[in-house]
Amino acid sequence: MKNKPIIAPSILSADFASLGSQVDTCLRSGGDWVHFDVMDNSFVPNLTLGPMVCRSLRDYGIEAPIDVHLMTYNIGNLITDFAKAGATLISIHPESTPHLDSSINLIKDNGCKAGVVLNPATSISTLEFVINKIDLVLIMSVNPGFGGQKFIKNSLNKIRKVREIIDTSKLDIRLQVDGGITLENIQNVAEAGADTFVSGSAIFKGKDMKKTITEMRNLIRTSYQ
Ligand code: DX5
Ligand code: ZN
Repeated sequence: MKNKPIIAPSILSADFASLGSQVDTCLRSGGDWVHFDVMDNSFVPNLTLGPMVCRSLRDYGIEAPIDVHLMTYNIGNLITDFAKAGATLISIHPESTPHLDSSINLIKDNGCKAGVVLNPATSISTLEFVINKIDLVLIMSVNPGFGGQKFIKNSLNKIRKVREIIDTSKLDIRLQVDGGITLENIQNVAEAGADTFVSGSAIFKGKDMKKTITEMRNLIRTSYQ
């Protein structure tokens, strides 16, 4: 059973010079969560936002869930700092920590929901011994690091397989997909089994955020009836 669909605009594609108002606009335009991409120029070849920016968004008045996607090494202190800075959910890559289980515990102990991220070549077997303690599985449909990349088609097979794992587990776990989601492919992603959709460039680089998000919702509606 899929959860009600969530659209999570990725602020990686926002105009950082006016981040507060950009986030406000994407939420007023129908976005549900704020997808917050954290990159350290080491785990991935790009450098973006830290906990201080998350705190600034909360102080600015953003109340929607902040969905932190950690693409860094040394995640221990970042987990606690992001929790203090107002993160709602923190997702981590198994390759970024030698101790996936204890990193998940740390996220939960700090009062956040926990997600595990599968890169395009990461096996779904990674989920086997952590599935009972996570709130979300994030399937990367591009190699992480940059917005605006092309959706990797083979991700649809992985989405179907993970949907089956989640349904079999009967646990309340969201299935999120991140990378290259557009108006052209969002319906296929929904039909494969996703319920949480990250989209950066399609939302922020388009002409009309409200129109884009509304069209996305219309395209996925039939998958949840
Ligand atoms: C990629 C990031 C994504 C990215 C998605 O490493 O994790 O969240 O911003 O952007 P689009 O939708 O442009 O592929
Ligand atoms: Zn992301």
